[in-house]
Amino acid sequence: MEAAVLNNAPLKELDEWDDFVAERYQPGKSEDQFRNYAADANPTVTEFYRQNHAYQTLDFVLKKKAEYGALTRGKKSIWEMAEYLNTLVDDSDPDTDLTQIEHLLQTSEAIRKDGHPRWFVLAGLVHDLGKVLCLYGEPQWAVVGDTFPVGCAYSDQIVFPEFFAANPDSKVPEYQTKYGIYKPNCGLDNVHLSWGHDEYIYTVTKKYLPEPAQYMLRYHSFYPAHRHGAYRHLMTEQDERMFEWVRAFNPYDLYSKGRERPNWKEIKPFYEDLVSEFFPDQIDW
Ligand SMILES: [Fe+2]
Ligand SMILES: [Fe+2]
Repeated sequence: MEAAVLNNAPLKELDEWDDFVAERYQPGKSEDQFRNYAADANPTVTEFYRQNHAYQTLDFVLKKKAEYGALTRGKKSIWEMAEYLNTLVDDSDPDTDLTQIEHLLQTSEAIRKDGHPRWFVLAGLVHDLGKVLCLYGEPQWAVVGDTFPVGCAYSDQIVFPEFFAANPDSKVPEYQTKYGIYKPNCGLDNVHLSWGHDEYIYTVTKKYLPEPAQYMLRYHSFYPAHRHGAYRHLMTEQDERMFEWVRAFNPYDLYSKGRERPNWKEIKPFYEDLVSEFFPDQIDW
C-alpha cells in the first residue's frame, strides 16, 4: 500500500469524490453499469469510503454537531469564505481542474440560465462552502462522501455497504434495527446524518434561506435518499415534498462541470446583489 492511502487524506483532492459521484450517475448509464461502481472506483476513492464508513458513528456525528453547531469559528462574509475555500489548492493539472469558486459559479450559472428563482441560484453559489471543514483540519471522510443516517440500519443503497462492518455502530444492536433510535416517519430534521459539508453549510445559512434552499444544502449528498428512495420510513410528507427540490438541484451540482468557465467580471454585479439580498455583510461560521 502506498503511504497516501494510510493517512486521513486518501483523495488527492476533495473533488475526486465529486467526480466519482458524477461518473456514477452519468446520464445514459444502465442499471448494470451503475451497479458496477466498485470496479470503476480508483483505489483512493475506495480507501476514502472505507474510512468514511468505518469512522462515521452516531457518537462522532453528535460531537461534530455540537462542536460546529454553536458557530464559534468567527464571522466572515460569504465572499471571504469563498476565497478561503479557494485556498484548498490541489496539485493536479490547473488547466483542466476548476477552483472551488468556479464549481460554485458554474453550478449557480447553470441554475440561473434555466430561469430558476434567485434563492435557487444562491443555493448553487453556496452549496459547497461547507468544504472549509477540510481547512479546519477535518479529515476527508468527515467533509465529503455520500451521507447516510447513523443510529439505524444502513441501507444497501449506500455505496460500498460492506465497509460498514468496520463501523463500531454495526455491533450495537439498538442501532441496527430498521428504525434504530428513531420513530417511524419522525422527519429528517430529527435524524442524524453522517457529518460533512452539507450539514455545516446548512447550519451556517439556514436562518437566511427559504426552506427549499435549506433542503438543497443539507441533503445534496444524501444520494441513498434523493437518488435511490431509501429511508422514506424516516421521512415526513413535508420531507418528501422538499426532496423534489433536492432532486431539482442535483443535476446542476453533478453536470455543470463541463461548461465554460464563468466570466467573473461580467457576472460579479449580479452575484454581489444576490448575496446581499439574502445575507448580512458577515455571518457566523
Ligand atoms: Fe457538495
Ligand atoms: Fe458541489
